Amino acid sequence: KSVEPLRFTTRAERQSILRKAGYNLFNIHADDVLIDLLTDSGTSAMSAHQWGGMIEGDEAYAGSKSFSRLEQTVKELTGFRHIIPTHQGRAAEKILFSIVGGKDRIVPNNTHFDTTRANVEMSGAEALDLPIANGLNPALKAGFKGNMDLDALASVLDNEGPQRIPLVMLTVTNNANAGQPVSMENIRQTAELCRAHGIPFFLDACRFAENAYFIKLREPGYENKTAREIAREMFSYADGCTMSGKKDGLVNMGGFLAVNDDQLAGRARNILIVTEGFPTYGGLAGHDLEAFARGLDEVLEEDYLKYRIRSVAYLGEHISAIGAPIFQPPGGHAIYIDAKAFLPHIPPHQYPGQALACELYLAGGIRSCEIGSVMFGKFDPQSGQFKPAPLEMVRLAIPRRVYTKSHIDYVVESVENVFRKRDDIKGMRIVYDPPVLRHFTATFQPL
Ligand code: F0G
Repeated sequence: KSVEPLRFTTRAERQSILRKAGYNLFNIHADDVLIDLLTDSGTSAMSAHQWGGMIEGDEAYAGSKSFSRLEQTVKELTGFRHIIPTHQGRAAEKILFSIVGGKDRIVPNNTHFDTTRANVEMSGAEALDLPIANGLNPALKAGFKGNMDLDALASVLDNEGPQRIPLVMLTVTNNANAGQPVSMENIRQTAELCRAHGIPFFLDACRFAENAYFIKLREPGYENKTAREIAREMFSYADGCTMSGKKDGLVNMGGFLAVNDDQLAGRARNILIVTEGFPTYGGLAGHDLEAFARGLDEVLEEDYLKYRIRSVAYLGEHISAIGAPIFQPPGGHAIYIDAKAFLPHIPPHQYPGQALACELYLAGGIRSCEIGSVMFGKFDPQSGQFKPAPLEMVRLAIPRRVYTKSHIDYVVESVENVFRKRDDIKGMRIVYDPPVLRHFTATFQPL
């Protein structure tokens, strides 16, 4: 019913575009991109039912009907008492961590994604990643590589206690760990550990529906449950969550913070009024709230989820078949190419992931995203030594309900072209290095 044109460019044009963009794909105009796999965030196609809701959206400043619908949908799904709308996920994080974060505090997570880490750190707290060992082994095929390391968590909770740990978070699916799912057992055990220490437990729920579907496919005892029942059980163990509706809300903009704690909710709403808007719209238009409520229902339809998980796996299987290394098994929203194994001759401080992402753009006009030492690498402030990220990856994130199989086949062909010439690819050096979330604005030069 609705299409968007695609525009081809030549390799010579792309060379010049890339140079002008400082070899940072975030600086390229979308018009100059053929297949845009930069992110699955806010890039979904909405359904006719959601577009219908855009027209019906109630724009009342206070007490909007569309907010009531979103609130009802989220309460019914999560069971949380207070639903606080925000314009996107990071606004929920900012509000939460400006209340519970602060100097000398530690926030453990299976793996923080970039904005979550940045919001924890901006509050003065430490963002501590505790992924399981298997989660750092790209080639290993195992079911729930997104899990939290429970022994490591237990020892941090024993040593630091609730004075220093305001909450524990689990990111489902684990985006910085290749979109790998977290098992129900791991969610339950993380919650039990938190409860035993009197520490609240939160989900970073951006991709809760994809995680629920992996549980259905892989965890014994869940094969006959619906994705909705599984999602409800996931939320039932938590005291609250942050959510970016731009992923599994199937909307272009939207998010929320949900909590059970009345006091925390009160403080959050006070900040919300100052920074986002009144508590019944929180930085969103009524039509956004309406589309978001409808998206949260649609995302749990199993015909959709089956196609979603299967089509991402299709891309992964075909890249593997040409011999190129990917993080195994395929995750929920993206295929992560293992840039360390793809380009073993480029050391982490020469950013193999960035080099590969640029080559993919040159080869086929495909935009991807480095998730490696550009995003998470650091220079030690004392020694000045470079501390690389644990993994060097290039993420091919698949927008929901957007591309067809032939688009994806074209991506595979482009990866194959780059893979054949991999020995000639050179590393990169950073020219401009901004102080926070540097992957968005840094500029580079090929070595
Ligand atoms: N948490 C996770 C796990 C995320 O992946 C993101 C966003 C956020 C929080 C923040 O949400 O963008 O609505 O403010 N991830 C996007 C990505 C940007 O490309 O993976 P937001």
